[in-house]
Amino acid sequence: MPNQRDAAIQYARKNKEKFLSCLKEVLCIPSVSTEPAHLSDMRHAADWVATRLRALGMQKVQAFATPQHPIVYGEFLGAAGAPTVLIYSHYDVQPADPLDLWKSGPFDPIVRGENLYGRGVSDMKGQMTAVMKAVEALYFTGGIPVNLKWLIEGEEEIGSPNLADFISSHKNLLACDFAFNPDSGMIGKNEPTITYALRGLAYFELRVSGPPNDLHSGVFGGVVHNPAIVLAELIAGMHDSKGRVTLPGFYDKVRKLSKEERNELARIPSDEQYYLEKTGAPALYGEQGYTPNECTGARPTLDVNGMLSGFTGPGSKTIIPASAMAKISCRLVPDQTPGEVYEQMKRYLEEKAPKTVRWELMEMHGGNPSISDRDNPGVRAFADALETVWGARPYFKREGGSIPVVGMMQSLLGVESVIGGFGLPDDNFHAPNEKLHLPTWYRGIEALVHFFLNLNP
Ligand code: BES
Ligand code: ZN
Repeated sequence: MPNQRDAAIQYARKNKEKFLSCLKEVLCIPSVSTEPAHLSDMRHAADWVATRLRALGMQKVQAFATPQHPIVYGEFLGAAGAPTVLIYSHYDVQPADPLDLWKSGPFDPIVRGENLYGRGVSDMKGQMTAVMKAVEALYFTGGIPVNLKWLIEGEEEIGSPNLADFISSHKNLLACDFAFNPDSGMIGKNEPTITYALRGLAYFELRVSGPPNDLHSGVFGGVVHNPAIVLAELIAGMHDSKGRVTLPGFYDKVRKLSKEERNELARIPSDEQYYLEKTGAPALYGEQGYTPNECTGARPTLDVNGMLSGFTGPGSKTIIPASAMAKISCRLVPDQTPGEVYEQMKRYLEEKAPKTVRWELMEMHGGNPSISDRDNPGVRAFADALETVWGARPYFKREGGSIPVVGMMQSLLGVESVIGGFGLPDDNFHAPNEKLHLPTWYRGIEALVHFFLNLNP
């Protein structure tokens, strides 16, 4: 009998077209977790996931209801003596707007060149499906060599508000040796990557209001403080001239980078030129004294995600707007917490907001940052698998994005995550024309086949 490694890789190579149509199926479901209009699409996507898990021989497949979107669970515990891997994914996606910037429909997946386009294809339906397809290749060529549990949520893109409760109340169900989280990506198509740190998030909405209605800016301009100007000044004051965030105490809990880690991060081939090219920005901006890799991976930041005030239609209108609103979020690093950053933001506003306006700060959602163990059998098996397929040792990187479940699993289950994925930096996640580089995706499926086999040699 030929060995299973060869057979499973052959299976994956023979079934590329089928794998692609399966991925397209789930991409057609507009599972936008933040929009109430997509509630039934969320159910549909959860059902799709449950059906796929059953087709892989998973047992106890169930969609658990939560106050918002279901969490899908399934398991295979038939590999006696082998480790148990908890596979995490999310089936929700970010909103597709602005729609007019898409070259094809966000929920009409289409291949152009080497890429498949569609909302969520890289973040992360393509990644979730890659794991399913690797497991399928093993399932049909002799059997799955490890025990698997799947935890697939539908609320990651809104901060996983119901996941901690679910994990806390299902500790036995989720018991495992380690988690595999394919919600991250690679630094380039020839640079296999393992993520070992993620930033956390603290998200706020800030409203500044003055008069109860918009006012004539000629009749009242000069006696009433303009809420849009106040908001702009408050926001402008949130950074100093060195690019540091000025919220009181913001850096108190920030863990310093060691010399060794700074040296290691310096080896990752993404320098200033790389960020200029990837972003198309005219010049880079950031906290003085840190490299771009450090600024995105190991330093906290504050950003405005959206602002709204006054008249923004075509033409002109002479008013003092009644109010102004901004969505503001901070990316956090260990050991900052969203709750503490909320208090810091409140203190900043208490100290800085003028008495001429009222303000209101709403805490939207948050997630803790995490640093993962880099030396365990799971990481080694994944690193070896990436090396087998790419012919190069993986880079270890700190990711600037957030995946709240990783910190939750550490604190609630005592479980470490192996974090990877096959998305590329120019995949346009959360943006128009999100894409997935198919040759990299197929390589990723093969790497996952090797990964699972490496865990039970
Ligand atoms: N998959 C991303 C996180 C990510 C982005 C990993 C880029 C690697 C590279 C994840 O789905 C995501 O976007 N998370 C949100 C979390 C938030 C809403 C709590 C994020 O980072 O904005
Ligand atoms: Zn994601």
